Amino acid sequence: MNDNMSATTERFYIEDAGKVFAKGVTNVTVKGWVHNKRSSGKIKFMVVRDGTGFMQGVLVKGECDDQSFEDFEKLTQETSLVVEGTLRQNPRNPLSFELGVKSIKIHQIADNYPISPKEHGIEFLMENRHLWVRSTKQHATLRIRAEIIKSIREFYDDRGFVLFDAPILTPSSCEGTSTLFKTPYFDTQAFLTQSGQLYGEVGAMAFGKVYVFGPTFRAEKSKTRKHLTEFWMVEPEVAWNDLDDNMKLGEEFVEYVVQSVVSRRAAELKTLERDLTKLAKVKAPFPRVSYDEALKILEKRGVGVPWGEDFGAPQETALGEEFEGMPVWMHRMPAQIKAFYFKHDAANPKLALGCDLIAPDGYGEIIGGGQREESYETLQKRVAEHGLNMTDYQWYLDMRKYGSVPHSGFGLGVERTVAWICGLDHVRETIPFPRMIHTLRP
Ligand code: 4AD
Ligand code: MG
Repeated sequence: MNDNMSATTERFYIEDAGKVFAKGVTNVTVKGWVHNKRSSGKIKFMVVRDGTGFMQGVLVKGECDDQSFEDFEKLTQETSLVVEGTLRQNPRNPLSFELGVKSIKIHQIADNYPISPKEHGIEFLMENRHLWVRSTKQHATLRIRAEIIKSIREFYDDRGFVLFDAPILTPSSCEGTSTLFKTPYFDTQAFLTQSGQLYGEVGAMAFGKVYVFGPTFRAEKSKTRKHLTEFWMVEPEVAWNDLDDNMKLGEEFVEYVVQSVVSRRAAELKTLERDLTKLAKVKAPFPRVSYDEALKILEKRGVGVPWGEDFGAPQETALGEEFEGMPVWMHRMPAQIKAFYFKHDAANPKLALGCDLIAPDGYGEIIGGGQREESYETLQKRVAEHGLNMTDYQWYLDMRKYGSVPHSGFGLGVERTVAWICGLDHVRETIPFPRMIHTLRP
């Protein structure tokens, strides 16, 4: 009987329900999993998910075949099945659809699915991450992550940036030696990349404007809600851009990503109970403060630090509060706390021409970048001052030897951006399989 019916029904994905219905197709097949079910006498309800969405199925005795009506009792959470029925508008909410079920065909009964709708501890959920990603909020978060990555690529591709892939196995550090993962490499040693920037600079000299996009690694011993040991970073790099150009690119970019998600993933943001009005206000230009100006704001707010120190979470949160929901640029930081490659400010050589973008509501730094030192002699001196091995960086120094130009770029951390846009309190939920100091499984 099922096979006969299949010939006249159309397989569809739940997210396409509106389009399919508008075409006048009503005999449909959904292939998916049981999310939950309930019965009230002669009528039974189930919610099916197929990966693209959730849909209620209604079973009424007489309208549904008898065997299916009986099989309903065997359904457990995450049982896989094929459902055939009539697609119709939900009488209680005409904007959504439901399925008048004619038959169900069980593919596999899921026995004791470990994640029930009741509350579970985070440790348990993290151990079951391979199953947890099916849950509503995790599903919405990862869908938004995919949309963010899509909009990142769109932004740069549409503006003529060339994708320039950097290696993951590298011979030297980019962001200091204290967070390097080492790995044996035949008869020598390699490091997992901390940032593709140095290679991005090579790309900028060859193509004018490029972006590097890939996973990066930091042996972060800190257990915070903002740190992963493996995270994704997108790193544009542009020849002839100075610090101001760099901030302008960064704010147009962040606005594009946020507004793309607001317009395309409103349903998922709603699932996460994210305040859309706050995100809708994120429009360039963003406020800019120098490190020195930021210090004054922090002192006023009671979280000042001595000049020359890096900001921690309390400082970043306070800066965010000052600018009410807007990301804020902090620029011109003390050179002593920045990496070797920064150009120093001609007006005050103690300052590096860096720019960090601090997200509102305590989400912290989502962009780090700046203008690069372009002088061969100065950069050579910096490599030495930072105790780095000159031969490892000779290729990088070559960029300053053969037609050096001013250039700038930055890196945006995908996971912190996802956490901010989704309103999550920890980056561990922003990537399918987070890697942290004590998390390597599954
Ligand atoms: O500020 P960072 O260290 O900058 C760089 O790596 C530059 N080389 C980028 C460039 O100019 N091309 O890192 C950039 C961003 C941070 O602002 C943050 O969003 C993210 O990468 N990030 C991390 N995200 C998660 N976990 C960590 N451990 C992170 N470290 C940095
Ligand atoms: Mg940084």
